[in-house]
Amino acid sequence: MSEERDQEIVRRWRRDEARQLAAICDETEVAYWTPFPTPFPESYAQTFIDGRDGYLDLAITGEQDEPVGLATLNLTTRSASYVVASSARGRGYATRALTALCRTAHTDLGWESVVLEIEPGNRPSEVVAERCGFRRVDSDSEQVEDKGRVYSLATWELSWDATDVPPPA
Ligand SMILES: CC(C)(COP(=O)(O)OP(=O)(O)OC[C@H]1O[C@@H](n2cnc3c(N)ncnc32)[C@H](O)[C@@H]1OP(=O)(O)O)[C@@H](O)C(=O)NCCC(=O)NCCS
Repeated sequence: MSEERDQEIVRRWRRDEARQLAAICDETEVAYWTPFPTPFPESYAQTFIDGRDGYLDLAITGEQDEPVGLATLNLTTRSASYVVASSARGRGYATRALTALCRTAHTDLGWESVVLEIEPGNRPSEVVAERCGFRRVDSDSEQVEDKGRVYSLATWELSWDATDVPPPA
């Protein structure tokens, strides 16, 4: 993937892409590591595409501009999240998408920091966070219960005041 692709790795969802979004999110690992429902019906995907209050939901795009993932900013908690289709993982999509989300948060929305909540043990997500300059900041992990599992979520933060990582260009 070229550097130029970084700028256009995320875009708005198109009206007719609910099926693709549902296929990306209706997957075992997504159900395990995220609060998303399983199954993840197309009708629910359509609510993301129509626009959820308090969220900016963007498509992560592949080489042909096809959706390969979902990148989200929660405008209330000032946090980010990401999902990449199992068939597209390990190719840097989440890393580039999170970089783009942070650029939007800092440059367009004026945020001084962005937060991630990651379950310890979700190594691919932790690798993405580390590579984008996030640091684990919590002392007490938050406990949550979802789909019959009780687990903790660690807080990670990228702060443009407190880190030597430069703001996204
Ligand atoms: C987390 C997720 C979005 C990462 O997407 P991705 O596009 O594959 O991420 P990237 O390719 O940018 O980076 C992932 C890195 O983790 C590495 N990785 C994957 N599994 C790993 C493991 N078990 N141990 C260590 N590193 C691992 C990959 O090799 C890659 O690093 P590399 O580029 O140096 O090889 C994807 O795995 C996913 O959708 N998981 C399910 C949903 C989820 O967990 N979302 C995050 C919730 S906090």
